[in-house]
Amino acid sequence: MIEQARDDLLVKVEGLRTWFPVRGCLFRKRYVRAVDGVSLSIPRGKTLAVVGESGSGKTTLGRTILGLIQPVDGKVFFDGIDIFSLSRRQMRRLRRRMQIIFQDPVSSLNPRMIVGSIIAEPLKVHHICSTRRERNKRVAELLLRVGLEPSHAARYPHEFSGGQRQRIGIARALASEPDFIVCDEPVSALDVSIQAQILNLLKDLQNEYNLTYVLIAHNLAVVEHFADIVAVMYLGKIVELADRDELYSNPVHPYTASLLSAVPRPEPNRKRTHVVLTGEMPSPINPPPGCAFHPRCPLTRRIAAGLSADETTEVISQGERIKVMKRCVEVSPLLEPMVDNPHHYHACHFKKA
Ligand SMILES: Nc1ncnc2c1ncn2[C@@H]1O[C@H](COP(=O)(O)OP(=O)(O)OP(=O)(O)O)[C@@H](O)[C@H]1O
Ligand SMILES: [Mg+2]
Repeated sequence: MIEQARDDLLVKVEGLRTWFPVRGCLFRKRYVRAVDGVSLSIPRGKTLAVVGESGSGKTTLGRTILGLIQPVDGKVFFDGIDIFSLSRRQMRRLRRRMQIIFQDPVSSLNPRMIVGSIIAEPLKVHHICSTRRERNKRVAELLLRVGLEPSHAARYPHEFSGGQRQRIGIARALASEPDFIVCDEPVSALDVSIQAQILNLLKDLQNEYNLTYVLIAHNLAVVEHFADIVAVMYLGKIVELADRDELYSNPVHPYTASLLSAVPRPEPNRKRTHVVLTGEMPSPINPPPGCAFHPRCPLTRRIAAGLSADETTEVISQGERIKVMKRCVEVSPLLEPMVDNPHHYHACHFKKA
């Protein structure tokens, strides 16, 4: 299915770098490299999931793709348009087609506005309905579409449950009739029983309106039944990118393997090696040299244990001295396609053919 759609790309990202200057460094400018050289593309009507630990740069990537943050380098093409070459006016017009759903439905809805006004706002901004009556009708339709009642328009956000509030956020995003929505951890703040309902709603809406999604999540369990393509992010970079089934059945990067081993499996007989990561993700201000994952990588340690001294080196990780492959510390691995699958990309020196 993805094969056919691959030519019809809605979003294309090339060499994106979003760095934030660190305040207080007067003499030597330092940066948080939140997104550091990301390239990807998303076929129309499909979902790209972006998965990684907290601080890996997922939200920054999503917001940069939407043109809400200016990158220091790289390009974003939306339906063939280079969005950072647009004037403010052109960008405002394009914005109607690109929306965002936030993680926290409480703080993303203005508590002083009634729900009807919250959903009507994009209709006003983008001049979608000319009269108040049309607007009210549209708000009622949107509320029904996301599983709420038209009468809810008169209520305030605090009068709803978490799941209902997320439905309001979805209705607001849908109001401008977008083609593309960045869903930034849309279910992380919700009860497990509600998560599936919201994900199902997003899936139904995608089928109905041919929406293209970026779905941001912390773990691979949330996106397993939803994503078409999965990008695994670590410290501002994509370390593995593949179609969903391929990534879950044949993870190549040790970081992906560690995220996957945390996903509960219904088949007890299926073999899966359990990979436990040690330590925390390093700071994106001063990332480790070479492969940024090397201080936590179980693979480089395992392989280095059997190699001679001239192929290995010692590094300090979490206060412990560990032996790793020299190459992992010296050379940053590029995100490259696998030899036997040109649609499966990974950035690791230990390439599985
Ligand atoms: N406006 C900003 N100014 C400075 N640093 C920022 C800014 N926004 C994000 N960062 C930094 O960029 C890095 C990536 O942040 P980002 O919010 O994109 O990560 P994330 O993967 O979405 O994390 P989480 O899963 O916790 O939401 C972090 O180190 C963060 O502190
Ligand atoms: Mg985030």
